[in-house]
Amino acid sequence: MIAPVEHVQSKEPAYPDYLPHYDPSEKVEPVGAFEHDDPGHRADAALPNLMKEATNMFELSPHCGTELHGVQISELSSAGLDELALLTAERGCVVLREQKFNDIGFEAQKQIASHFGPLHRHGWMPHPQNGPIEFVIVFDSQDDLRIRKSWARKSPIQFHVDQSPEPQPPGLTFFCMLESPPGAGGDTIISHMGRAFDRLSPSFRKRLEGLNAIHTTANPIMREIRDNGNQAVLRRPITKSTHPVVTVHPVTKRKCLFVNSSYTQSIVGWDEEESDYMLKFLFDHVNRGADFSCRVRYEPGTIVVWDQRCTQHSQTLDYNPGQRRHAFRLTPLANVPIPSKVEEDDGSCQEDEARVMLNLC
Ligand SMILES: [Fe+2]
Repeated sequence: MIAPVEHVQSKEPAYPDYLPHYDPSEKVEPVGAFEHDDPGHRADAALPNLMKEATNMFELSPHCGTELHGVQISELSSAGLDELALLTAERGCVVLREQKFNDIGFEAQKQIASHFGPLHRHGWMPHPQNGPIEFVIVFDSQDDLRIRKSWARKSPIQFHVDQSPEPQPPGLTFFCMLESPPGAGGDTIISHMGRAFDRLSPSFRKRLEGLNAIHTTANPIMREIRDNGNQAVLRRPITKSTHPVVTVHPVTKRKCLFVNSSYTQSIVGWDEEESDYMLKFLFDHVNRGADFSCRVRYEPGTIVVWDQRCTQHSQTLDYNPGQRRHAFRLTPLANVPIPSKVEEDDGSCQEDEARVMLNLC
């Protein structure tokens, strides 16, 4: 039998400066309200600055994800970063390989990510001991089983928007892989919420527009306390916001589904049973959306940039426990979610009915 090719992990972590630090006494202040000027608005749609050094570009799936080769994020001009924001807004996520960005140090990394908005300060995820609070560290290894513990007896597949309960949730987000498991596994599934919305029937879409939902960090905070007791990291009180169920992306103007199973608690004004039923349907719709998602495999040095306003993502946590997976995330905040407008029925509901009948006959 032919053995699969696997890269070898060093005995010790390759990026010790990026190891997670847990301080139960630490507190942070939220970023607060700010004016958001989206870089995607400034971008040249032909992407001349982003594509100058590109050697290859291909789609990961028809509705979500583009992989771009030859481009170094750390060498992009301000105009190139604007164009990266535009491409990511259109495709949901962009995957870049062999990035020097991972080796340029905390301050330079922070400066580039801040091009897209003020960086979020997380309420419970670890940051590096001697690194800025804005760095979220994802570290799973035999020396640190907190991630495994938090997902014990629960499906690791949970599509979400990072930190949707913020009053101004994140936009473009950097997920930077320092060390991935030696073989297959530890991928991220990213799903396009514009396509998720479009795939619903016209009359159902109209029912969702105009609704609002409550997003809260209560459940993950309770899980942190359950798993870690007096070692739990609770830097901020519970964050809670009301956001539209269907939002409009500020750059592409595309309507996107904006409820997720990690943070969305209820639909405003609906009875509990009605709200639970509707949210369960929408979460299942996203979970089944293999036709509007892509799956990204990592190598050390891979960076995935995703736009939280038009995507949701899930870990897979499918590699062997004890194998090392080490990454960091930088999460610029963006606009107050824009509600989609409920448009007059333009006849599309009836047209859709007629189309279904034709297919059935
Ligand atoms: Fe996430």
